[in-house]
Amino acid sequence: MLDDSALDKLFRTARTQNAWTAKPISDDTLREIYELAKFGPTSANSSPARFVFLRGQEAREKLLPALSAGNVAKTMSAAVTVIVAYDPAFFEHLPTLFPQVDARAWFAGNAALAEETAFRNGTLQGAYLIMAARALGLDTGPMSGFDRAIVDRAFFAQTGWKSNFLLNLGEGDPAALFPRNPRLTFDEACLIL
Ligand SMILES: Cc1cc2nc3c(=O)[nH]c(=O)nc-3n(C[C@H](O)[C@H](O)[C@H](O)COP(=O)(O)O)c2cc1C
Repeated sequence: MLDDSALDKLFRTARTQNAWTAKPISDDTLREIYELAKFGPTSANSSPARFVFLRGQEAREKLLPALSAGNVAKTMSAAVTVIVAYDPAFFEHLPTLFPQVDARAWFAGNAALAEETAFRNGTLQGAYLIMAARALGLDTGPMSGFDRAIVDRAFFAQTGWKSNFLLNLGEGDPAALFPRNPRLTFDEACLIL
């Protein structure tokens, strides 16, 4: 079992950050985050998530018109912003990712099932990415306040990938934190049957 300080870092004291210091993130660290997150489970090992790491000025300016007003300053000042996306044609990789059966056939020709599977598992993978970044000592800030259609047109016209949510990464500035909000109690959120 992980010790208390690891559990704090992953969950109890980890916060969603609203402002960032100037500390950069290396490409090696971005790779390390992915190398952990990729092992999180997905149905049939489908691994539909795609991650686009935006660091450069040009990439950020492409994202800017899609951001809701409240997300502009924090996104423009984060060391890196990740577009957490998914590939609706993820099933083309299944002959490699899940060779035990013809899993590609479950999804090819069933667009609704493919979309549901890609969105569910791509979202899970976005959560794994958050926890991997925290495990490596980074702060995170997920956001759904943006126009997905604008992002998809600007970044995914060639690939057909679809954006799900955005994730700022960096070293948070604790001065901009709101007080921690309460969570539901076990009895409010859980049943043991
Ligand atoms: C999927 C998702 C979308 C979110 N969208 C936004 C957003 O657009 N803008 C924002 O400022 N915070 C956004 N948040 C941040 C949440 O409000 C924050 O994670 C939550 O209140 C818990 O805060 P804490 O981690 O500091 O306790 C989002 C969080 C998630 C997971």
